[in-house]
Amino acid sequence: MFKGPPVQLICPKDLHFPYVPGHLSHIIFELLKNSLRAVVERFGPDQEDHFPPIKVVVVEGKEDITIKISDEGGGIPRSAIPLIWTYMYTTMEGQNIDQDFQASDFKAPMAGFGYGLPLSRLVRIL
Ligand SMILES: Nc1ncnc2c1ncn2[C@@H]1O[C@H](COP(=O)(O)OP(=O)(O)OP(=O)(O)O)[C@@H](O)[C@H]1O
Ligand SMILES: [Mg+2]
Repeated sequence: MFKGPPVQLICPKDLHFPYVPGHLSHIIFELLKNSLRAVVERFGPDQEDHFPPIKVVVVEGKEDITIKISDEGGGIPRSAIPLIWTYMYTTMEGQNIDQDFQASDFKAPMAGFGYGLPLSRLVRIL
């Protein structure tokens, strides 16, 4: 294995706000997983000591808390934007998910179900 990109958290100290913790951690986990993959795929695993950081910026506004996650993985092509909220849309290649599921020692794939973004949007409104 190789080192992943660093993640920088920029957040006010002692920030408290009402939200379902499990839902927030689900969403942030999925977004960070996408960012980490995008950066590694763009720069290549041989760049493990030079990956640009993923930045998580948390800002407290007058009415809302904003959490922004930004990466330098190249972004989502404009033509793919209508697809990203559909279940099973993925650009992940080279992992046979069925094969992994049948294995007796269960090994889940790191990505590739295409569920991350649509499920995160679903839990956001629950
Ligand atoms: N930060 C990002 N940078 C570039 N492309 C992204 C980013 N986030 C999502 N994408 C694109 O959107 C697609 C769909 O993302 P989504 O999280 O729904 O599924 P996935 O990551 O492919 O699979 P899963 O999340 O189920 O493991 C990804 O395959 C990728 O092509
Ligand atoms: Mg994902």
